[in-house]
Amino acid sequence: MAILFDNNKNIFTLHTDNSTYQMQVDKYGFLLHLYYGRRTEGTMEYVLTYADRGFSGIPYDVGPDRTYSMDALPQEFPCQGNGDFRSPAISVKNVDGSYGCDLRYKSYEVKKGKYGIKGLPAVYADETEAETLEILLEDSVTKLQVVLLYGVLPGCDVITRSARIVNAGEGTMYLEKVQSACLDFVTGNFDLISFYGRHAMERNFQRRPVTHGSFKIGSRRGTSSHQYNPLMILARPDTNEDFGGCYGLAFVYSGSFQGEAEVDQYNQTRVLLGLQEEQFAYPLDTGEIFLVPETVLTYSNQGLGKLSQNLHRCYRKHLCRGKYKETARPILVNSWEAAYFNFDGKMLYDLAVHAAELGIEMLVMDDGWFGKRNDDNSSLGDWVVNEEKLGEPLKDFIEKINGLGMKFGIWFEPECVNEDSDLYREHPDWALHTPGRKPILGRNQLILDFTRKEVVDAVFDQMCNVLDQGNIEYVKWDMNRSMTDMYSVVAGEQGRIAYDYMLGLYDFLERLMARYPNLLIEGCSGGGGRFDAGMLYYTPQIWCSDNTDALDRIRIQYGTSFGYPAGAVGSHVSVVPNEQTGRITSLETRGVVAMAGVFGYEMNLGNLSEAEKEIVKEQVQKYRSYAPLIQNGLYYRLSNPFEDTLAAWEFVSEDGTEALVSVVMLEIHGNMTANYVRLKGLKSGRSYQEQESGCIYDADALREIGIPLPLKGGEYQAYQYYFKIVG
Ligand code: GLA
Repeated sequence: MAILFDNNKNIFTLHTDNSTYQMQVDKYGFLLHLYYGRRTEGTMEYVLTYADRGFSGIPYDVGPDRTYSMDALPQEFPCQGNGDFRSPAISVKNVDGSYGCDLRYKSYEVKKGKYGIKGLPAVYADETEAETLEILLEDSVTKLQVVLLYGVLPGCDVITRSARIVNAGEGTMYLEKVQSACLDFVTGNFDLISFYGRHAMERNFQRRPVTHGSFKIGSRRGTSSHQYNPLMILARPDTNEDFGGCYGLAFVYSGSFQGEAEVDQYNQTRVLLGLQEEQFAYPLDTGEIFLVPETVLTYSNQGLGKLSQNLHRCYRKHLCRGKYKETARPILVNSWEAAYFNFDGKMLYDLAVHAAELGIEMLVMDDGWFGKRNDDNSSLGDWVVNEEKLGEPLKDFIEKINGLGMKFGIWFEPECVNEDSDLYREHPDWALHTPGRKPILGRNQLILDFTRKEVVDAVFDQMCNVLDQGNIEYVKWDMNRSMTDMYSVVAGEQGRIAYDYMLGLYDFLERLMARYPNLLIEGCSGGGGRFDAGMLYYTPQIWCSDNTDALDRIRIQYGTSFGYPAGAVGSHVSVVPNEQTGRITSLETRGVVAMAGVFGYEMNLGNLSEAEKEIVKEQVQKYRSYAPLIQNGLYYRLSNPFEDTLAAWEFVSEDGTEALVSVVMLEIHGNMTANYVRLKGLKSGRSYQEQESGCIYDADALREIGIPLPLKGGEYQAYQYYFKIVG
């Protein structure tokens, strides 16, 4: 049993294999948080302390006991207005215009399996893999009900949180802030790790102590954004890759979000993760239900490496779906950096011919194939094949590509529209805009009002018309601007737009998956601007960044690896000098770096020399044989590329019988010192053979001393070592 209830003490205990989560309904009916951390038996109500503290609100029914205040007690789902002055998980404007609520415990229910959330992405697991706890809280005055949902996946060391908010009263209330998870700790002394960035430089690692005052990350952009990833890690200051306690909080949502960490006046820590509260005021009429997107929580007492592996495993097995969930993805060549908008059917066909010769498995026709789109100023919204540019109907073209033994994939940006498009000319009100005000532009385009079903339906139909024209096995789903002008001419209440938009988007994706169950969808938003667990539910891989520079990619992929499995990370080899940075790295190095994710090429392969073609052939063969290990193996960070002389990472099969180690030298100096890369995750006491050299090594020596790298000149040398267990 993963979920236990102690009737005497009114304590809920949630166990995973290596962690325990505990809360208590106290004598006043408040749901208090007792413990989250290393697995432990017993009950932890002793952590609660009571003292008469000045300027703290006391619930009326507590009477003269001035030692009892929500301002100091650790809570499960703190609400605004109950005497707690810290940042709340929920804030409600009531029917009479008053603020505040008072949520008290009513009942609970335990169910087998993992709850789902209608219309929203969520971790799934069957009755043998998970249990669900539902706890009903209610405000007895307004009849606001909150059903807290907990999904416990013991084998993944994951607990998910979500909530159903119900207006069981009369009239319309407004949800003005809703968070998905709150973690209250009665102590301080944590670091917070978060991931900041910008277009083409996403998910940089930042670690800072949580101090007095609030530290906040988030997005107001309508997408999870390049700027902050919806992932937070709370770590003890002495926690590193391999040792120490740490907590991961990942929001399974792709829109605007916020995350906060604060140390309060009593040195206690509160962490919140959930919906962005700005421009949010969600109306809830009598009987209506609001579903809160979920947060995945994981705890590791073996450092950040194990924490990442917990999330990777959970997403691989319980979040990604579809035919390609755990099977090797096709190695692709994408036309974007090969030609941008300057292609025609012949050029693409030639690209496919070269690709097929090299063993590449799929051609992706990126932006520029529809309407009259020859640059990024027009035609979004007109998903009609430009047969003149292609030289023939799409069906014939795809047949030719398939004839080469290659799959065919295509790019779409379904959520956006250019003013210069037939769709916009016909339906200008279908774009989000504020009446009487000129909209803010981004890449000269607007965002369609996906809160409206007829808009989603119309674009869906257009997309199906294209997908039905031939054997299309892959779609790159892009989204190339941030959301502004969040106003819908039909929605009525504008405080609901950001959330309802996401429901429209998810509905579209769900329908697409249902209609084309074998379709592989790769997410994208100017590279990695919507790289989140929510999207992984629909798109098992996501284009990691528009930056294909091998050196920058090492850092971007390092940051990404904290929260996301390698199978989620679209990663391609492109030309040098690199188009984003101008940097030159060898083809070998670019190959090794791109093999840290879902592999492909993004260049005109016809321009390669014969010698380069041989290298590419070898890379393709290697990747094909390593793909199951890369996609489904355990991922280990062996260095920190922001600080170390070299970048190194490793994939080890779950059974420990094989390992792939990749290294890139970040620095080169005269009379270079020897460098050793220490391995992780091998079976102690066993021997492993490196497959290229044939050398046999003792696993413990590889862990303690490591493997010496060749002393070679030249910048950014890269190495790959593939080990198999032999004794
Ligand atoms: C975005 C994507 C690119 C490419 C272009 C096409 O920037 O991230 O990979 O598809 O759009 O316009």
